Amino acid sequence: MDITPQSLVVVANRLPVDAQVTEGTEGRTVTWRPSPGGLVTAMDAVMRSNPGAWVGWCGTAGLELDPFTDDSGRTLVPIPLSATDLEEHYEGFSNASLWPLYHDGVAPPEYHREWWATYEEVNRRFADAAAAAAAEGATVWVHDYQLQLVPAMLRAMRPDLRIGFFLHIPFPPHEIFRQIPWRRQILEGLLGSDLIGFQRKTDASNFRRTLRMQLGMQTQRTFVKVPGTRADEPERLVRAEAYPISIDSADFEALARSPEVQDRAAEIRRELGNPDLLMLGVDRLDYTKGIRHRLRAIGELLDEGELDPTRAVLVQVASPSRGRVELYQAIRDDIESTVGRINGSFATIGHNPVIHLHQPQPREEIVALYLAADLMLVTALRDGMNLVAKEYVASRFDGDGVLVLSEFAGAADELTQAVTVNPYDIDGLKAAIMQAVTMDRSERRRRMRFLRRRVMENDVQAWAHRFLDALTGSET
Ligand code: ADP
Ligand code: G6P
Repeated sequence: MDITPQSLVVVANRLPVDAQVTEGTEGRTVTWRPSPGGLVTAMDAVMRSNPGAWVGWCGTAGLELDPFTDDSGRTLVPIPLSATDLEEHYEGFSNASLWPLYHDGVAPPEYHREWWATYEEVNRRFADAAAAAAAEGATVWVHDYQLQLVPAMLRAMRPDLRIGFFLHIPFPPHEIFRQIPWRRQILEGLLGSDLIGFQRKTDASNFRRTLRMQLGMQTQRTFVKVPGTRADEPERLVRAEAYPISIDSADFEALARSPEVQDRAAEIRRELGNPDLLMLGVDRLDYTKGIRHRLRAIGELLDEGELDPTRAVLVQVASPSRGRVELYQAIRDDIESTVGRINGSFATIGHNPVIHLHQPQPREEIVALYLAADLMLVTALRDGMNLVAKEYVASRFDGDGVLVLSEFAGAADELTQAVTVNPYDIDGLKAAIMQAVTMDRSERRRRMRFLRRRVMENDVQAWAHRFLDALTGSET
């Protein structure tokens, strides 16, 4: 199917929805469900109010689907990825090389030349599809580490476009970034953009410093001077700056206020035996999220009698993620055996102190859990932003609840009234959990008031406007 070229095109590794394919007697049926992760949570909300085209993978290897228009008027353009593309571009270079490296090397990255070749090839496919979907002079917004070569590929084909890039994960210090064998190609790929957005100021300054150190480029405040590649090509100014992402805060609050979600929150507490303390973790099952450190702290607090195993419960909802990548299999085994050990030691008939749900949950259920929880534990070892922290705050229209937040999550820059922790410091983490448990009501409410002001003011629409205004007003 030919598509009508659009004035706004979003390019991301995933579409906002994943295809679920069933083969029946009457042929193939395709149904759709929301895709995982913070990128989709944020951009789905933005693109509902700015319909344009969204170019991305449909979530199933080898599936070729025609572009289509969804119920909010967006044109979705599915990019086919073969089993080899998935293995080498997605599981390989994106999630076993770049992901661990960009998260400060919290796990060892691996490099393979064939992964890189496929990364280039897949980036080319996305760039071609974006060029075909973009109207003359359109704005193209490319997202995340899986597609860092797309901006330069696109600029070479379509110099008429405004090209923005947003990195949802951290950009590491130069000393870490420099180990990538293809570091120059990645930097040149990104520099095809007019504007490059990062989550934190430190990410943007790491990037600009890397350009100075690696490519000898000059930077001036947030601008980078990019020399032309030919003698007759003028220098361009590329802006590299922080735009901290957010959520559709009003939408989360409205969901939390709905009678169904409030009833469900009360029901969750009843089903758990009306505990005195309900602690909550909500994460993709990823080794960057610090779930092991969280469990270790809770296990020790139970062991030392600081928490009563019959009256306290931790609900850990971890959605399955990247299950064919080795490090993800290891973290899953580790978490399951730790939960088993804690429950083996402290469970009674009818009560488990830790409940681990390894399943995606509908948004209504997640928000009901946010409302039901006394304490939200966000203990990431490294995280671009962490939208879960913001979702918890937006959902707490009742003004209560305590957020325990890792200082290594981007959200810590804004949510300064959370109880902040260094998750590597298990004693510090235990002390922070106990501080949150024993915090009096007026202090809890004072902190939550501050947090809510931040999250309600800087929502995802404000974030998208800031980025797109800077992109369309920027000079090259
Ligand atoms: P990341 O992008 O690394 O996954 P974020 O915290 O920024 O981390 O975003 C995670 C998103 O996924 C949030 O919108 C959160 O509500 C959602 N999410 C996390 N775990 C689950 C789950 N088990 N079921 C459904 N949604 C989940
Ligand atoms: C993070 C990344 C996204 C990614 C998401 C889910 O939010 O920044 O780019 O889409 O995790 O991960 P997945 O590998 O399932 O797409």
